[in-house]
Amino acid sequence: MSLEAALRAALGDAHVLVDPELRAPYETDWTGRFTGKARCVVRPADTAQVAEVLRGCAAEGAPVVIQGGNTGLVGGGVPAGGEVLLSLARLGELEPVDRAAGAVTAGAGVRLAGLQAHARAAGLDFGVDLAARSAATVGGLVATTAGGIHVLRHGSMRSQVVGVEAVLADGTVLTRLAGLAKDNTGYDLSQLLTGSEGTLAVLTRVRLKLVPLAAHRAVALVGVAGTQQAQDLLAVARDRLRSLQAAEICYADGLALVREHNRLSAPFAEAYPAYAVLECAGGTDPTDDLLEALAEAPAVLDATVASDSAGRARLWAYRESLTEAVNAAAVDAGGVPVKLDVCVPAGALPEVVAALPETVAGVAPAARTIIWGHLNEANLHVNVLGAQERAEQVSEAVLRLVAAAHGSISSEHGVGRAKARWLSLSRSGAEIAVLRRIKQALDPAGLLNPGVLFAE
Ligand code: MLT
Ligand code: ZN
Repeated sequence: MSLEAALRAALGDAHVLVDPELRAPYETDWTGRFTGKARCVVRPADTAQVAEVLRGCAAEGAPVVIQGGNTGLVGGGVPAGGEVLLSLARLGELEPVDRAAGAVTAGAGVRLAGLQAHARAAGLDFGVDLAARSAATVGGLVATTAGGIHVLRHGSMRSQVVGVEAVLADGTVLTRLAGLAKDNTGYDLSQLLTGSEGTLAVLTRVRLKLVPLAAHRAVALVGVAGTQQAQDLLAVARDRLRSLQAAEICYADGLALVREHNRLSAPFAEAYPAYAVLECAGGTDPTDDLLEALAEAPAVLDATVASDSAGRARLWAYRESLTEAVNAAAVDAGGVPVKLDVCVPAGALPEVVAALPETVAGVAPAARTIIWGHLNEANLHVNVLGAQERAEQVSEAVLRLVAAAHGSISSEHGVGRAKARWLSLSRSGAEIAVLRRIKQALDPAGLLNPGVLFAE
C-alpha cells in the first residue's frame, strides 16, 4: 500500500489532501516569504492519529513538516519541497479549567484567542498575548517559545508550559500532562520540547499554567525623543508600577505606515521620534498610578492614556498593526518584507537601533528599515522593505551586528529555515554539537522538520 493510501485508511479521505488547490493554503506562509510544495497535507484529529501518520512516514522514510496556525515568521511550518505536511489544526480540544491547579490542558490546534476566552470564562487568564492571537495555535506557540507583549509580567511561552504530550518520529507517544508543581524526576522533557521548533517531536497536547484575571487595565501611548528616553521611561515605570505588564516601542516611520494603512489619525499634535506603549493591569484600576508615573518621568514629551476597552484598543492599534502595515507596504511595492527578530543586551539597545538603518543601507542602499519591538526585553523586530533580492545580505549584516553586540539572532520567532545557516552566531560549536546529538537521539532518521534549526 502506498503511503497516501495508508494515510487515507488511517485518517479518512477528507483529511489527506493531494489536490494542489487544496494543498495551496498550507504551502505558503502568510507573509508570502516562504513557500514550497508538500507531497500531501494530512489533518489528524488526535494524538493516536498523529502517531499513525508518523509511523507510516517513518516506515517509508518520508520527511514531515509540522504546521499549526501558519503564523510563523521563519519558514519553520511550510514545506521546503516534498514533505508530508502535518497540520495540527484539528487538535482543538480544550479541557475544563482546573481551578485548583490554576492550569488547563489544550490541544495543539487550539487558537490563542480561544484559550484566552476559555481561561477568562473561568475567572483566570493566560499569560501570553500577541497580535496573531486569532490564528496562532498553542502547539506552534510552544514549539517556538513565543513571547509577545506580556513577557515583562508573565514570561514567554516557556514559563507557562508545565507538561506536554508529544509523538516522536517513530510514533512513540510521550504523555506527561500532570503538571505537578514539583517534579524532580530526571530530565524535563516538556521543557526540552518547548522551543524545539518541531525538530524533536510533534506536540499534540500541552498543560499550561494560568494567571490571575485582571479586572482593570490602562494603556498609555507616549511620545519620546528616542530609544534611550524610552528606556528611561521604562525604568521609572518598572520602579513605580507593580501592575505594569507591557512596554513596547516603535518609531515615527512605523507609526506613519500604520496610520496610512489603517487610516488612523495622529495620536498627538506633534510627531515624535519614538513612541512607547505601556500597559498596566490589576485587581484595582491602575489609571491613576500610570498617570502619576508618567508625570514623574522626564522622558515623556506627550502622552495619552485610555482605560476603557475601545480606547485601549485604539492605542494598541498603533503598535499591533505594524506587522500588517509593513506587509501591505511590501506587497504594494511588489515584494515581501525581510523580517528579523533579534534580542540585544538592554544597554546596547540605543546603539544597535541607531546602527541598523546604516547597516542595512550598506548592503541594500534602496531599502527602508522599519523597527519596533518589546522594549523591556530589548527585543527588536527589524523589518526591511525593498530588499527582497538582497534578503541574504540584509540578514547576514543585521545578524552579524547583533552578534557583535552579544545579542541573539532569534528572540521569539525561532530559527526556522530562515536563520538556520546563522545559528553559529548565537550558539558555540560545542553547544551545536550537543543540540545535534539530542536531535539524533530523538529523530535519528532526521524526518521531522528537516532544514529547520540546523542547516542541511
Ligand atoms: C510583533 O511583536 O509585532 C510580532 O512578533 C510580529 C512581527 O514581528 O511581525
Ligand atoms: Zn514580537
